[in-house]
Amino acid sequence: MTSILFVGDVVGGLGRRTLHGLLPGLRAELEPGFVVVNGENAAGGLGITPSIADEMFAAGVDVITLGNHAYHRREILPYLDGHDRIVRPANYLKRHPGRGVAIVERDGVRLAVVNLVGTVFLKAARSPFDEIESVLGGLDGQADLVLVDFHAEATSEKVAMGWYLDGRVTAVIGTHTHVPTADERVLPGGTAYMSDAGMTGPRGGVIGVKKEQAIQSLVDQMGVRFETAEEDPWLMGALIRCGAPPAALSIEPVRRAWAPER
Ligand SMILES: [Fe+2]
Ligand SMILES: [Fe+2]
Repeated sequence: MTSILFVGDVVGGLGRRTLHGLLPGLRAELEPGFVVVNGENAAGGLGITPSIADEMFAAGVDVITLGNHAYHRREILPYLDGHDRIVRPANYLKRHPGRGVAIVERDGVRLAVVNLVGTVFLKAARSPFDEIESVLGGLDGQADLVLVDFHAEATSEKVAMGWYLDGRVTAVIGTHTHVPTADERVLPGGTAYMSDAGMTGPRGGVIGVKKEQAIQSLVDQMGVRFETAEEDPWLMGALIRCGAPPAALSIEPVRRAWAPER
């Protein structure tokens, strides 16, 4: 059966260079059937632009997922309506640009990718729990495998979603915190679960921001202009090996430092 390489939030130009620097080697080594990348921070740390999305698709990324920064760059709005392999949270307002589900097919296997946003510290138009019910109902046999990128702050909300969907989807992978968790496992019903995949970008900052600026903002409690950090780039994500649809056989973290050639 196939496998899915999921890559956590790509942060800024360094994150993009890390993704594009490491992806060819990861493809050769892991031979994923599908590659899904969260791109919500790909443009200077906030949002994504059409050219950045095009570059990811040209590199063979099958689906781009987003999150609470989906609409930060206004130029992406028409692109979201015009491209069916980039998804914003499904539980945003229905009249918002874009869609929350993408279906891609490879070698006769159809993968649905769903983006959902959590409700703890984040805005959603509808409950992610209600929303996934209508999404799964709407799929109506159009997909063999289902991957849910649950973009949420609280591990409790994410763990609950994992249990809620256990046995009904292939994987529930959390994003948004930019910090990877060590709780990856296949739940008893066959759903691969991980609370957060981590980020792809500078580990030498504070979840992607220059550490001096992040520290200053906390110490001084005054406004500070944030820039993306440029130190210690890593790619973080997970490889999900799939079994009899929709089940997963295994999930393992993928975390690689990137050393650009000088
Ligand atoms: Fe993010
Ligand atoms: Fe986020």
